Amino acid sequence: MAGKKRIAVLASGRGSNFQAVLDAMRDGRIPATCVGLYTDNPKAYAADRARAADIPVTTVDYSRFASREEYEKALLRELVSCNPDLLVLAGYMRIVGSEIVKEFTGRMINIHPALLPSFPGLHGQRQALEHGVKVAGCTVHFVDENLDGGPIIVQKCVPVLEGDDEEALAARILEQEHRCLPEAIRLFCEGRLSIVGRRVIIR
Ligand code: GAR
Repeated sequence: MAGKKRIAVLASGRGSNFQAVLDAMRDGRIPATCVGLYTDNPKAYAADRARAADIPVTTVDYSRFASREEYEKALLRELVSCNPDLLVLAGYMRIVGSEIVKEFTGRMINIHPALLPSFPGLHGQRQALEHGVKVAGCTVHFVDENLDGGPIIVQKCVPVLEGDDEEALAARILEQEHRCLPEAIRLFCEGRLSIVGRRVIIR
């Protein structure tokens, strides 16, 4: 196999998905190395996880920029300078700007806590509960200019149970997220994904 792929991760908070990716790399389930953790939030726990694993942390603090455009420009500069093969959004809670989408088209993926195309945007789990669906889940997809709308790579589903509140459903979905994201990254790193129209073909 060719050398290990270089993966950069962008996260805003807790970083449990990031941790699942690190664990999968450490166990040899993903033929890749993490070249950097990027965050918009100086308090993100994901950054502590990165430091504990000796992964460089870059904070591009959203609150320090005068405009969204300037923030995006600075973030893009940082991301490009680490030259990743794949950019993974693992709990990144902002909409990715068009310059970043353009730069990383076909090599940027996102994990979303709903079965897309249902319930894009914030609080996918709450939207699912409020809608009354009986099955919920998570999706890993390529990022394009449509919010949570790019080609779907992997999905996993869970039941919605009587008496679920948002926290219980989110926890059940999160367990599947931790399987879904490493699986999608592995497929990408093994060169097994191609985008045809709005579909992802897995070889
Ligand atoms: C996860 O549930 C992820 O799917 C969601 O945020 C959580 C982050 O958890 N992402 C989104 O809602 C993106 N729109 P984590 O920080 O523990 O990985």
